[in-house]
Amino acid sequence: MYTVSVRTQAPYEVTVGRNLIDELPSLLTKYRGRALVLVSDDIVAPLHMERVKSVLEKAAFTVHTFVFQAGEDHKTIETLDALLNFLYEKEMTRADLLVSLGGGLTGDLTGLAAALYCRGTDFIQLPTSLLAMVDASVGGKTAVNLQGAKNQIGVFHQPSAVLCDTAFLDTLPQNRFAEGMAEVIKYGFIDDKTLLDRLLPITDLESVIADCVKIKARIVAEDEREYGIRKLLNFGHTFGHAVECVSNHRVSHGDAVAIGMCRAYDVARRAGICQEDFGEKLHALLDYYALPTETSLPYGELLQAMRHDKKRSRQSISLVLPTKLGECICHSLPIEELEKFFAPSEKKEN
Ligand SMILES: NC(=O)c1ccc[n+]([C@@H]2O[C@H](COP(=O)([O-])OP(=O)(O)OC[C@H]3O[C@@H](n4cnc5c(N)ncnc54)[C@H](O)[C@@H]3O)[C@@H](O)[C@H]2O)c1
Repeated sequence: MYTVSVRTQAPYEVTVGRNLIDELPSLLTKYRGRALVLVSDDIVAPLHMERVKSVLEKAAFTVHTFVFQAGEDHKTIETLDALLNFLYEKEMTRADLLVSLGGGLTGDLTGLAAALYCRGTDFIQLPTSLLAMVDASVGGKTAVNLQGAKNQIGVFHQPSAVLCDTAFLDTLPQNRFAEGMAEVIKYGFIDDKTLLDRLLPITDLESVIADCVKIKARIVAEDEREYGIRKLLNFGHTFGHAVECVSNHRVSHGDAVAIGMCRAYDVARRAGICQEDFGEKLHALLDYYALPTETSLPYGELLQAMRHDKKRSRQSISLVLPTKLGECICHSLPIEELEKFFAPSEKKEN
């Protein structure tokens, strides 16, 4: 078992291990006697909710359950509205607790509801996807989409604790596991090239998850509100979010990040700032996990979606570009140069 401290303004711990759910009540001692809303989507709920609920009820918590329809199409203000109304109808107070049981989407939704309800309620994360364990459950970004635009409505609200029980991953489909690997691979490329050598194949999943969480915890503690170094965590995400948006979320977040990392590498290679072995290693890892490396979505639409990216100011957009294995830089690109930089290779070289 691993414990990682996240030293944000309100610090908390991330615990990583197998079969940790029985330990949950001991994490929640300060909430004894309080009501609790367990939030999950309709894929995770039938698999895991009953067990978590019974552990909590045995520890004398009053547990209400809120289940919403899975999928990025439902990461909306309407679902958030339904959850907030549910909290109100159950007479939850700001002293009570929300618990997210699910992937990154459930965590983002629950965190946002917790931030808004009674001007801020505590919440804890029980991530059930690899992607949520290594990335989404840590760092306090919460959000829902707006008109299909990714995470357009959100706030920073840190969880009070995160419990990564790898037993949840036993039911995660292989393609979903691979999507989480896109974020694991991202950490290796932005921060720790030695991590990349432990992924073909992974022999100790818990230590890999814990090491990813350590990287994220360190970066988030240094730059909680993403004014500087935290932007590096967005490697692959500018183009990736555009892919998610233009595909109407038929391309998942993890797959889109894989495509986005390849496009960012391509931009850096053509700008002459990235070493060749970066691309070789990136493609080898993505191929191994059967992750996509390119998209046939219309380039004009992707460009338009990137122009709406949250990471842009009026004149420029912040891009994360690789330089060598384990190192990326933030580059501020004038909006009018987006087209030139992101044009697919064939188009530019013709
Ligand atoms: N807040 C952040 O810092 C952050 C970071 C990265 C991604 N995200 C967000 O997270 C989401 C992507 O995360 P995700 O891939 O976990 O999304 P998700 O929550 O939609 O989960 C993906 C799918 O896997 C299913 N699933 C999850 N756990 C399962 C399990 N144990 N067994 C069977 N099925 C399971 C879900 O029901 C869903 O269908 C996106 O909305 C993205 O914007 C947030």
